[in-house]
Amino acid sequence: MSILVLYGSYRSDRIGIRLATYLVDRFRARGEDAELIDAKFVDLPMLDRMYKEYPPGTAPASMQKLADQITAADAFVFVTGEYNWGPQPGLKNLTDHFLEHWFWRPAAIASYSAGRLGGAHAAAAWHPILSEMGMVVISSTLTVGPIGETLAADGTPTGHGGETLDRAFTRFADDLAWWSEAARIQRAKRPPPY
Ligand SMILES: Cc1cc2nc3c(=O)[nH]c(=O)nc-3n(C[C@H](O)[C@H](O)[C@H](O)COP(=O)(O)O)c2cc1C
Repeated sequence: MSILVLYGSYRSDRIGIRLATYLVDRFRARGEDAELIDAKFVDLPMLDRMYKEYPPGTAPASMQKLADQITAADAFVFVTGEYNWGPQPGLKNLTDHFLEHWFWRPAAIASYSAGRLGGAHAAAAWHPILSEMGMVVISSTLTVGPIGETLAADGTPTGHGGETLDRAFTRFADDLAWWSEAARIQRAKRPPPY
C-alpha cells in the first residue's frame, strides 16, 4: 500500500511533526510504502490557481510533483492539528490545490493537540472536508493528546499515552489497509464513473 502522510503546521516550534514521523515509521514497519508530505516544505503558495487551472506542463514543479504523488497513492493519512477548534490552514491550503486527484481512495484522520481532547474538534471538521474532496473517510481515528506527553521529539511513543497510541495504531492501520485494498480492486475491476 502506498500511503501519503500529510501534515500541515508551518510553526517554527511545531510539535505535530512527532505524530507525522511516528505514523510514517509505523506504516513502514508494517511493510507499507509510506511517505511524508510536509506542507511547510512543499511550500505551495496561498491558493491562487488550483493545479488543474494551470495549462498542462506549466504548474510549479512542487505542485506537479505532489499531483503525481497523490495520483499514485492508494491511501491518505491526514495528521490534523487543531487551531481554535478548526483545521490548520497549511494543510487545508495544500489539499485545496487539488480535487479530482484525491478521488476514489480511502483517507484516515490522525488528530492531535496540546490538550486532552487530542484535536477531536479539528478531526470532526476535517471529516466532511475530505468527503467533499472525494475520499472515503474510514471510521477509525487516532486522537493524540497531550501530544507532548505521548511522543518524544523523534516520534518515539512515551509513557501511558504512547502505549495507548501503539495499541490504537494497529486497528487504525488494519482498517486503512482493508479499505485501500478494496478500493484498489474495485478501481481495477471497474474504472471510476467520473
Ligand atoms: C493558533 C492556535 C490555536 C490553538 N487552538 C487550539 C484548540 O482549539 N484546541 C487545542 O486543543 N489546542 C489548541 N492549540 C494548541 C495546539 O494544539 C498545539 O500548539 C499544537 O502543538 C499545534 O500543532 P503544531 O505544534 O504541529 O503546530 C492551538 C495552538 C495555536 C498556535
